[in-house]
Amino acid sequence: MQKKAFNIAIDGPAGAGKSTIAKMVAKKLGFIYVDTGAMYRAIALYMLRQGVDRTDEAAVSEAVKGAKITIRYQDGAQQVLLNGEDVSGLIRTEEVGNTASATSVYPAVRAHLLALQRELAASADVLMDGRDIGTCILPDADAKIFLTASARVRAMRRYKELLEKGEACNLEEIEQDIMERDARDMNREIAPLKQAADALLVDSSEMTIEQVVQAIIDAAVSKGLPAGRVQEGC
Ligand code: DC
Repeated sequence: MQKKAFNIAIDGPAGAGKSTIAKMVAKKLGFIYVDTGAMYRAIALYMLRQGVDRTDEAAVSEAVKGAKITIRYQDGAQQVLLNGEDVSGLIRTEEVGNTASATSVYPAVRAHLLALQRELAASADVLMDGRDIGTCILPDADAKIFLTASARVRAMRRYKELLEKGEACNLEEIEQDIMERDARDMNREIAPLKQAADALLVDSSEMTIEQVVQAIIDAAVSKGLPAGRVQEGC
């Protein structure tokens, strides 16, 4: 009998460092990293391009049928394709992120991505990050982590990132934006952001990246991942 894939679910709010951490853990474990936020962002980009009003549920639900989302990997990095076009570089803007947060509240949008996410998890050892992975998408995931940090710390990290890119920004505005996004992601009716009952809570506010990576690896090993899977020095 074929061995079941080992699945690690990481959920948490915007800016908690999920993707940075998840990429590092996936590399150390030889897992595939699946960034589900990128899928919601690709749908948001489609809505922006089509000029669909993000507050109009019927219009978004109809339009989403025209957005075929697929994933491929190049040199270990996930690329997200929108109707065959690689949009990975185009979805990392604040506008697309905010639109994704708004359009992801609709059941039709979530249903559109469910099968793809479950198929990916069934076919390989994956580390999947998002908002509802441990609660809805992979309720039987082998290990579940809820990764968070205070709004202030998350805003500060984002602020530094933007400054490094040479972009003008305001810390208060970023923090306000983060709190609004949290409220929307946590209070929506379908698949809200919340910690699964069996998830390990990791608050990274006072932790280094290496400490968070280690905490997740330890959690996976405690849930049955053979310690020999952990590759040192990468
Ligand atoms: O993780 P991110 O910032 O790339 O996600 C963008 C938005 O997509 C986020 O604000 C909410 C939505 N999202 C979701 O609803 N469910 C997921 N599993 C992942 C993201």
